[in-house]
Amino acid sequence: MSTYIVVGGFFGDEGKGKILAHFALSDKPTVIARGGVGPNAGHTVEFQGKKYGLRMVPTGFVYEKARLLIGAGVVVDPRVFLKEVRELDLAGRVGVDMRCGVIEEKHIELDKKNKHLSDEIGTTGTGTGPANADRVMRIARQAKDVPELEKFLTDVPLEINEAIDNGENVLLEGTQGFGISLYYGTYPYVTSKDTTASQVACDVGIGPTKVDEVVVVFKCFPTRVGEGPFRTEIPQKEAEKLGIQEFGTVTGRPRRVGLWDGEMARYSAMVNGATQCALTGLDRVDPACRDVKEYSKLSSKGKEFIEMVEEDTGVPVTIVSTGPDLESLIDLRNEKL
Ligand code: GTP
Ligand code: IMP
Ligand code: MG
Repeated sequence: MSTYIVVGGFFGDEGKGKILAHFALSDKPTVIARGGVGPNAGHTVEFQGKKYGLRMVPTGFVYEKARLLIGAGVVVDPRVFLKEVRELDLAGRVGVDMRCGVIEEKHIELDKKNKHLSDEIGTTGTGTGPANADRVMRIARQAKDVPELEKFLTDVPLEINEAIDNGENVLLEGTQGFGISLYYGTYPYVTSKDTTASQVACDVGIGPTKVDEVVVVFKCFPTRVGEGPFRTEIPQKEAEKLGIQEFGTVTGRPRRVGLWDGEMARYSAMVNGATQCALTGLDRVDPACRDVKEYSKLSSKGKEFIEMVEEDTGVPVTIVSTGPDLESLIDLRNEKL
């Protein structure tokens, strides 16, 4: 496996949670670290009959032997973090970089009360943006200033670089998606940080030369939550008719739904330096593909869609997801890489 970065190719919620859980269980990385923005993200994974919506700890927790880390670039809400650690019983194997910015109550209040943020941009109200703003102002508290986090503090770059130098597998998790990157997305309708693969490397403290594979996750029908341009959007009624309506993991808001956007996929794959892509929701292209676990059993409609994605992005589709369950997946890395 070596060093993998997994990021979202559209507007977030592409199904990174499930893809990450699959990589964690199949490749058994010794270290799994979360980069990305903060608890504005919700990664969903359905595993052993339970559904998890993770906001702070790496989704790779499903692989029980992995060390779990949160990189310095991420802003941490100690309450969300401690709740997940408690509920998932992760205390013995999770670490937070001592330099992480901290989200406080005042950030959440501002995120919810500020009209520009809550109404015009349509933020998640999790305080992530205001905490990043305080960080840029150099007035934010850091993880090392919070007594409740003391026993989790670590130096994430040291741990990860050591694992890489020892030839171990490392899995790095991005959050959100390309279209809401502060730099490359549909500004000002974006999140408070870049969301590309280079940013994830930076978040956890590894140089670009240490990355082996960049997996960009695309969903067959992209979705967007919050305001902002979405050129392939379809009316909600049509999405309902197609049975592809979705609701946000963090906010519960209905997600806007659109059709495949090949042009955006190509640009996103380029800026991320994709070496592979993962495609989720093939069951929505053709219900006959639902829960299919072998490539040869996919319908020709499903296979044609995969070929189109490879042509648009210029990289192989190595993972195909055919339903929300972790088992509903085809891993083609052995054949295509
Ligand atoms: P962010 O980091 O917040 O961007 O989230 P994410 O990329 O992890 O995605 P999220 O879990 O928010 O949303 C993806 C949704 O699609 C979840 O409800 C998944 O259970 C579901 N899902 C994932 N793969 C598939 C699939 O192949 N088919 C279908 N029908 N649903 C899927
Ligand atoms: P913020 O990141 O909470 O500041 O929200 C800024 C914009 O990014 C809003 O349009 C949000 O809906 C969107 N956003 C933030 N996090 C996610 C996510 O995890 N999935 C999808 N959209 C997100
Ligand atoms: Mg999500």
